[in-house]
Amino acid sequence: MKLVDSVSRMTTLAKMLKKEGKSIGFVPTMGYLHEGHMSLVKAAKKHTDVVVMSIFVNPLQFGPEEDFEKYPRDIKRDEALAGDAGVDVIFYPSVRDMYPEGYATYVNVESLTGSLCGHQHPGHFKGVTTVVAKLFNIVKPDVAYFGQKDAQQVIVIKKMVRDLSMDIEIRAMPIIRETDGLAMSSRNLYLSEDERRSALALNQSLEKALSLVEAGERNSENVIKAIKEFIARKPLVRIDYVSIVDMKDLKDVSDISGEVLVALAAFVGKTRLIDNIIIKV
Ligand code: PAJ
Repeated sequence: MKLVDSVSRMTTLAKMLKKEGKSIGFVPTMGYLHEGHMSLVKAAKKHTDVVVMSIFVNPLQFGPEEDFEKYPRDIKRDEALAGDAGVDVIFYPSVRDMYPEGYATYVNVESLTGSLCGHQHPGHFKGVTTVVAKLFNIVKPDVAYFGQKDAQQVIVIKKMVRDLSMDIEIRAMPIIRETDGLAMSSRNLYLSEDERRSALALNQSLEKALSLVEAGERNSENVIKAIKEFIARKPLVRIDYVSIVDMKDLKDVSDISGEVLVALAAFVGKTRLIDNIIIKV
């Protein structure tokens, strides 16, 4: 496995791989790897010749009050995990190299980004699309892999790729969970034992939503209310949002029919976690 820590070296390597006719599978991450990230690597290995993973904690997508400084970083640990999973190249640039002084260009998807995670965090998705567009230009992937855990992120990236005619296939992979149901996240590391127990309410409330719909409930408001009540009973958890939206345009739906995304974010102690479920009726 190669570790490439500069933009220019990664650009050269990607060009060379293309010239050799290799297909490139790309897994963008912010590091502190877990099995969620690894599931993307596994999928990439199946379908492409060379797997490139980026590890870059992107300052542009963190708000001023958010955890950019303390976001977990451990490149040695990540290198070992990525090596075991069969990553061929880790791209590990510095902030300075990605955003040199005077950097001034941004990519912004103007729909889809104002609701759910974009509502409380304006500018978040602009940071995500800017870095992902830039990473795409550097790594030149044929296929890029994203987790359904960040459901809105996948939809926004697909929209960017379509709107800007980027010749890249975007594949979304299912949420990987701990055995007790908590969605894996690098941020789970922040949770105390009590918070970790309370955090289970997120997934459990979504399971509850699913069983309500399976039992015939079709009114979104009722389902949202049930989720909120379920979570409110748990200590240490404060809801940020609970929404039921159309999978295509992320607009709230009042009736549950076809395919809907039930998405939520909550603070568990000081840690903000997200989770979601796709319900088909
Ligand atoms: P990060 O949170 O490190 O996640 C990297 C990728 O792993 C994303 O596509 C995310 O959806 C996926 N992922 C995280 N947890 C997962 C889980 N439990 N199951 C399945 N997939 C999971 O998302 C980002 O980084 C950044 O926004 C990034 C796209 C790298 C841009 O900076």
